[in-house]
Amino acid sequence: MRGIVKEFPGVRALDGVDLVVRAGEVHCLLGQNGAGKSTLIKVLAGAHGVDEGTILWDGQPITFAGPQAALSTGIATIYQELDLVDGLSVADNIFLGHENARGGFTRDADMNRAARELLATLGHSEIRPGREVGSLSAAGKQIVSMARALSRDARVIVMDEPSAVLDPDEVDGLFRVVEDLRSSGKAVIYISHRLEEIRRIGDRLTVLKDGATVAGDLSAKDTPTSELITLMTGRTLTSVYPRRTAPLTDGAPLLSVQGLTRAGEFADVTFDVRPGEIVGLAGLVGAGRSEIVETIYGARRASSGSVTVDGRSLRNGSVDSAVRAGLGLCPEERKSQGLILDDAVFRNVSLASISRFSRFGISRDAAEKSAASEAARSVDIRPDAPERIIRTLSGGNQQKAVLARWLLRSCTVLLLDEPTRGVDVGARAEIYALIRQLADSGVALLVVSSDIDEVLGLSDRILVIAEGSVVHDGPSEAIDAAGVLDRIIASHEHTTATSIDQKGEVA
Ligand SMILES: Nc1ncnc2c1ncn2[C@@H]1O[C@H](COP(=O)(O)OP(=O)(O)OP(=O)(O)O)[C@@H](O)[C@H]1O
Ligand SMILES: [Mg+2]
Repeated sequence: MRGIVKEFPGVRALDGVDLVVRAGEVHCLLGQNGAGKSTLIKVLAGAHGVDEGTILWDGQPITFAGPQAALSTGIATIYQELDLVDGLSVADNIFLGHENARGGFTRDADMNRAARELLATLGHSEIRPGREVGSLSAAGKQIVSMARALSRDARVIVMDEPSAVLDPDEVDGLFRVVEDLRSSGKAVIYISHRLEEIRRIGDRLTVLKDGATVAGDLSAKDTPTSELITLMTGRTLTSVYPRRTAPLTDGAPLLSVQGLTRAGEFADVTFDVRPGEIVGLAGLVGAGRSEIVETIYGARRASSGSVTVDGRSLRNGSVDSAVRAGLGLCPEERKSQGLILDDAVFRNVSLASISRFSRFGISRDAAEKSAASEAARSVDIRPDAPERIIRTLSGGNQQKAVLARWLLRSCTVLLLDEPTRGVDVGARAEIYALIRQLADSGVALLVVSSDIDEVLGLSDRILVIAEGSVVHDGPSEAIDAAGVLDRIIASHEHTTATSIDQKGEVA
């Protein structure tokens, strides 16, 4: 791709991008939220036309009249916002849009068998070909979308943040597929904000900034992290994590969880969070972290135990009682948890605080808008344009909007489940600083993250959860990633160490 330019009304999303990808390589595409990565691959996939520039395929200039043309040329794309048809079956979705309708299969049984084989290659034989896609989880849909891309036998496979909705053990499965594609001579274009993934799977990389290529053809393994961050952000970031400030240890606990149990999920979870304190929850997938957080919030009923916020005990299984006591939860699956895609950024941000902005049923628009705009600015949503329809924002910036929503709510206790998924390095540093600021103003925070470095870097205290129990509780400074893994392994020796990624990310 040479000198690619793409404009939307009022936005020059791509301003002269160059990208060179060779057969048999995994080429990573890096850049901050809004840098133009998704727009570039939509151009390559024939979903957007170009205003200027050329695409060369095997050295020959080529133009795509639409997505179908790009597909038949040999470019298959897994989009960041998945484009499956919810009402159709898994198999139908996989073979939808093949030149021969339904992949040329005349019998359902044959199509289902082919779908089953593809899903098995991906390590997901549990997904039934006949199941309706709408009933699958976000991760399940991602797998179907991947199976569809593989079914095309393309020469270039583009993956736009495929790992964002996958658990780390599912990422291992994804990476095996990527390795296979590479060794069979295909080219993979891989987009991710997780530098450790790029190190693991990437061969070469291109960095985009503000719609232009700032570096192409770098080594994915050997380019220093500091150099990548400088290329992406244009500044040097000395430390991603804010300095710890002493929590108000003599304050009474704001959040107190006593003997919380949900049969079959977790048992006897007990801990306190004091004002000004950030407590991190670390553990493997399925350890029960999200379940614990959702039970504290009242979205699930506890079998026994109690939750107290600022001295008030919460009604079991009542979100209403939690919210009235000052509890907030920024959930893990933000996309499905209610962005109104065709509404303005500021409305999406103020959604959880509407009552604050209405009097006698009359909404106070100006107040709502200025408060929400300020919250949007504090998480660095780009562009800084609160009136923009949120659908036209990049994926990472949409996520920041949901975070801003909970920051605006002014809770006394805030539960954050995977707060920086899909968010770029620079904005992540700002979000961490903001979380620390909230703590300094007296809020108690509980943070769940699969990124062990994030939990350790951000929190004052860390709780390690294994098989539904707290197996370690202590200051973050006194433990490192290896120590956390040791605690987990010690608590269930029968778990093989292979489910733990070597880079120290806990699944
Ligand atoms: N349909 C559209 N209409 C108007 N502006 C758009 C549209 N699609 C993208 N943009 C703008 O183009 C720019 C690049 O967005 P893009 O989605 O390509 O970013 P990205 O690098 O993929 O970011 P992320 O890491 O957050 O996914 C952003 O400023 C975005 O707001
Ligand atoms: Mg994107």
